[in-house]
Amino acid sequence: MRISVIGTGYVGLVTGACLAEIGHEVVCSDSDAEKIKILESGGIPIYEPGLENVIPQARKLDRLRFRANPAEAVRAGDAIFICVGTPPLPNGDADLSAIDHVARVIATEATSPKLVVEKSTVPARTGQELKRALSVYGRKSSVTFHVASNPEFLREGTAVGDFLHPDRIVVGVESEIAERQLKEIYQPVLDRKFNCPVHLNACPEGPAPQWLVTTINSAELIKHASNSFLALKISYANMLADLAEKLGADIQEVVRAMGLDPRIGASFLAAGLGFGGFCLPKDLQAFVHLAERSGVDFSMLREVEKINKQRIDRAIEKLRSALWVVRGKQIAVLGLAFKPNTDDIRFAPAIDLVNRLLSEGARVRAYDPQATERARATLPQIEYATSAYDAATDAEALFIATEWGEFAKLDWGRIRDLMARPLVIDGRNLLSPREIRNLGFEYRAFGRPD
Ligand code: UDX
Repeated sequence: MRISVIGTGYVGLVTGACLAEIGHEVVCSDSDAEKIKILESGGIPIYEPGLENVIPQARKLDRLRFRANPAEAVRAGDAIFICVGTPPLPNGDADLSAIDHVARVIATEATSPKLVVEKSTVPARTGQELKRALSVYGRKSSVTFHVASNPEFLREGTAVGDFLHPDRIVVGVESEIAERQLKEIYQPVLDRKFNCPVHLNACPEGPAPQWLVTTINSAELIKHASNSFLALKISYANMLADLAEKLGADIQEVVRAMGLDPRIGASFLAAGLGFGGFCLPKDLQAFVHLAERSGVDFSMLREVEKINKQRIDRAIEKLRSALWVVRGKQIAVLGLAFKPNTDDIRFAPAIDLVNRLLSEGARVRAYDPQATERARATLPQIEYATSAYDAATDAEALFIATEWGEFAKLDWGRIRDLMARPLVIDGRNLLSPREIRNLGFEYRAFGRPD
């Protein structure tokens, strides 16, 4: 099919590239002309593993093009995926102005029938507003629009694999045409009929994705409900970690045993500095607002948010109790991205941690394998190291703020010798307490006995 993707952020670029990978003809557009210039010249403006294979391959086959002019993109596709940002407003609501703007462009520029798919995370009932906007802005045109909601469940860092091998594809539709077109778009994924990109090695064994057809309102709710539940799981694990510390239990042992119960599941129970990124925190906030406006008291989720914010306080308490005085001390921070395998620092706990360290009067030297350039733009006042060893040199404490795999494999004996004081505060419970203590480190983690 001919598909347009509006918005080339983490979601839009992965969606566009993967739709081209499975055989469609895709045109991507973005209001950021600089981004389009980079993409047109063969560059990739974000770090997302796998895109470096999928994008050049699709471009070689002439299935993926980039256009700065959204009107051109709108006219090119029979289906248009809206993947623009929905950042939080100061009151926590999602800012839907970019979606409204795209609706206006689609309504005024389309010259043939379009399937308009909302992929950006939006509060429930946005699809209804989108339908209304398309009919109001397009009142002088005779073009027919079908609106659908197709929430994404892509995790940054593994988004290409998540797109090509999802466990479920949710389509919220109100017409048979919309359902049929979406089925056609996703058929190669449902049948696993595409060449699996090299970085994924092979398609996984196991059942094919579930195809779930719902109403638009349900599809929108599924997305928010899923992300908020994940956030709830993490905050639950973090509360448990606080309690485990008091009781002398080990959170790792506790969640391992809990996770073996299929009703609970093992994932998203890792305690530490808490959740960040551009989805979980903002989706949670927007969900709470939506519930409140609908007259439903979802204060349970406010607690989830509160517990998450307290993680940085807990980290600073740990530092204070070990160092006594923080002011003037040099602190190494390993990891700035909100999680490993991405360069995304939006709402990253690591960035909050660095800001708190600065406000406590510490001097910070940080290292991240991918996110340094992005961090430099928002945090120019700290030093950036070229390696973990460089960051550790002369530091009186070292924080692990993001669990990059390479940090587990460091030569920790060397780090110990480089540091002014061998103190590690492991914000992601990445290291083995026994091994690191045997090397002569003072080691503090989350929910593990000191
Ligand atoms: C999330 C959802 O997982 C995805 O389905 C949705 O489409 C977009 O939002 P993402 O933002 O990429 O994906 O990150 P995710 O892997 O969910 O992690 C979010 C945050 O939670 C990270 O900061 C991570 O470090 C933290 N986390 C995750 C924990 O603190 N503990 C855990 O057990 C798991």
